[in-house]
Amino acid sequence: MSAMLIAIDGPAASGKGTLARRLARHFNVPHLDTGLLYRATAAGVLDRGERLEDVEHAVAVARGLALTDFDEDRLRGREMGEAASVVAALPEVRAALIEAQRRFAARPEGAVLDGRDIGTVICPDAPVKIFVTAAPETRAQRRALELAGRGEKVDFAAILDDIRKRDERDSGRSSAPLKAAADAITLDTTKLGVEEAFAAALKIVAEKTSKA
Ligand code: DC
Repeated sequence: MSAMLIAIDGPAASGKGTLARRLARHFNVPHLDTGLLYRATAAGVLDRGERLEDVEHAVAVARGLALTDFDEDRLRGREMGEAASVVAALPEVRAALIEAQRRFAARPEGAVLDGRDIGTVICPDAPVKIFVTAAPETRAQRRALELAGRGEKVDFAAILDDIRKRDERDSGRSSAPLKAAADAITLDTTKLGVEEAFAAALKIVAEKTSKA
């Protein structure tokens, strides 16, 4: 059997992480949330007391990252999402993280990776590419629920504003901007619950892999 490699991209809080985890469990392959790499890079730069735009420090932190052992509690907060989006716009940081992601994707059994540039840059040959979207207001609601669940104070207007800003930064940057690969299937989860989105994704995987 050929490797089950699934590339999932999409904007912040689109539901891609939840979907990626579900698919990985279903197909019994490892999952890499590549946003954590950028979040961990940002955290490392801040820990050094440096500016997020400081390329030299950001690259050094990125090169030293292990793909496991992330302090998810700290990294998944609202602030680190913003900070990650800043370091992620530095082409040198993206370059420093490419190899580790490609190695992860090359496991013989396959893998699920989610991020912004998986189908376009990291795994351009992935047999299955899904671009997950949802309306900004829906994404803000989901993010608000997630942050509230983590005990963070929730200000819906500020979260919606964050999401819009991040969309702009992630889509507008010149290095590996957020965009659907030409051969990606778009899955709009605005009106879909977790189970419905998962079912729709399974259908996409079945269609894509039967043609392979
Ligand atoms: O998916 P996330 O919210 O954890 O990602 C945090 C930031 O990291 C996001 O705003 C942009 C950046 N990112 C990226 O540029 N490329 C990826 N493959 C994953 C994340």
